[in-house]
Amino acid sequence: MPEAPCDLLVVGAGAAGLTAALTAAARGARVLVLTKGHAPDSSSMHAQGGIAGAVGDDDTAALHAVDTERAGRELCRPSAVKVLTEEGPERVRELIAMGVPFDPELSLEGGHSRRRVSSVEGAATGWAVTSVLGRLAGRTEGIATREATNALALWTDGGRCLGVLTPDGPIAARATILAMGGAAALWARSTNPEGQIGDGIAIAYAAGAAVADLEFMQFHPTVLAGSRLLLTEALRGDGATLLDENGERFVDELAPRDEVARAIVRKGRAWLDLRSVDRSRFPGLMAEIEKAGFDPATEPIPVSPAAHYTIGGVVTDLVGRTDIPGLFAAGESAATGVHGANRLASNSLLECLVFGRRAALAALDEPAAPARPEMPPPERPPLAPVRERTASRKLRGQVWREAGVMRDPADLSDLARSPDVVASLVGRFALARSESRGVHYRIDAPTVDPGFEGHFVLRLGQELKLEHWT
Ligand code: FAD
Ligand code: SIN
Repeated sequence: MPEAPCDLLVVGAGAAGLTAALTAAARGARVLVLTKGHAPDSSSMHAQGGIAGAVGDDDTAALHAVDTERAGRELCRPSAVKVLTEEGPERVRELIAMGVPFDPELSLEGGHSRRRVSSVEGAATGWAVTSVLGRLAGRTEGIATREATNALALWTDGGRCLGVLTPDGPIAARATILAMGGAAALWARSTNPEGQIGDGIAIAYAAGAAVADLEFMQFHPTVLAGSRLLLTEALRGDGATLLDENGERFVDELAPRDEVARAIVRKGRAWLDLRSVDRSRFPGLMAEIEKAGFDPATEPIPVSPAAHYTIGGVVTDLVGRTDIPGLFAAGESAATGVHGANRLASNSLLECLVFGRRAALAALDEPAAPARPEMPPPERPPLAPVRERTASRKLRGQVWREAGVMRDPADLSDLARSPDVVASLVGRFALARSESRGVHYRIDAPTVDPGFEGHFVLRLGQELKLEHWT
């Protein structure tokens, strides 16, 4: 018999999950947070450049919205952009009040018309933010955390989400928020921790929730060649240049990152020249580069793109509601439409703060769960054998080859037949979008087609549908 339901089950302890947990606990809720590995092992912890938000004197939410929509190539959901950019500055100020020691100067990143990125030691923002949020959660009486507890499936009954199933048994909750991050580690070359293979998408889709925008994987242009080490875009904002093998510049380093990533792939090889940058602004990152065997003071550093951010995910409204009652999603797991076809740099941590909070507030309005929900018989889906998803080296290599920076329809058809549900969804979505827009580039259809101005949405057992989100 499962234990009594908690008020809110938050799956994931990155920026979105911790924000949701703290928001709900501050209103008296009993919250349980699950993580797949150890609590700090999230993309949030590795975030570098910072958090966008119109906090500078020369900036406004409206200017931030214009930049977000320009990067998103006619596909951002305007209502979501308005929420993100208008509520963002307050969320950043709350972090300052909690004790996040932001640098005195704002950073500049690609696609931004203003310096509006709040960072910590140039490139240690994720570590600083998750440390502060994690410490607060640890001290908050209403929040309990269970590490190394894999959510294998959603527990649904009568169309409502009652919690999740784990290898240790079911966990019941009045409301469940998926804050499980993205799927970029399904690509062989990725900036994400290894476990980020899209479990949130897999379990929500299996339970009948709509998923969207899965053709849009954002590739970060400047990742140290042969490693996962990201070299933050803020370095380019501070004057770092991209050089080809002749030592010549070949791209506007502050163009939106999809353009920079493609320019590097077309060149074949590229180096990031940090010699003119005030490297003392990025002490931790410089130490990492030196540890990897390079001297940023004397030599350009070899870089190439890597899968970085999953724009698509579980479809939600502006308060994180999915189409399964009792189930919410926030952060990188969710598809709110806020990023359109290309996320503006540093809008993701902000998304976690803004939409993580909104999802928690909405989740607290859910009706009470059955006092001790009864387990359905074990042969009934989704209880029938659920196993942990894993991604073999072979699968990661296939996803990288077949759904990389430049895509070919024959490869995508092959990927669509993958036995891995998320890999197959990526193939199906990318095949359906036979145009090039933002991060999705098709070599057989290299331009934007206005007929595709919308979001592809899929529900289990149905066909892909193009929807227009306002
Ligand atoms: P995550 O932080 O990824 O957390 C996911 C959580 O879900 C983890 O706790 C994980 O254990 C848990 N989980 C996953 N699967 C399961 C499961 N099956 N069962 C239980 N738990 C599970 N964005 C910015 O805005 N600014 C930046 O400077 C920036 N830099 C970045 C640098 C790097 C190297 C990377 C990788 C990303 C960066 N991003 C940046 C993107 C940003 O960090 C992420 O999009 C964001 O942090 C995602 O937060 P999240 O809370 O949604 O998910
Ligand atoms: C970076 O610091 O370059 C990453 C920023 C982001 O992914 O938003």
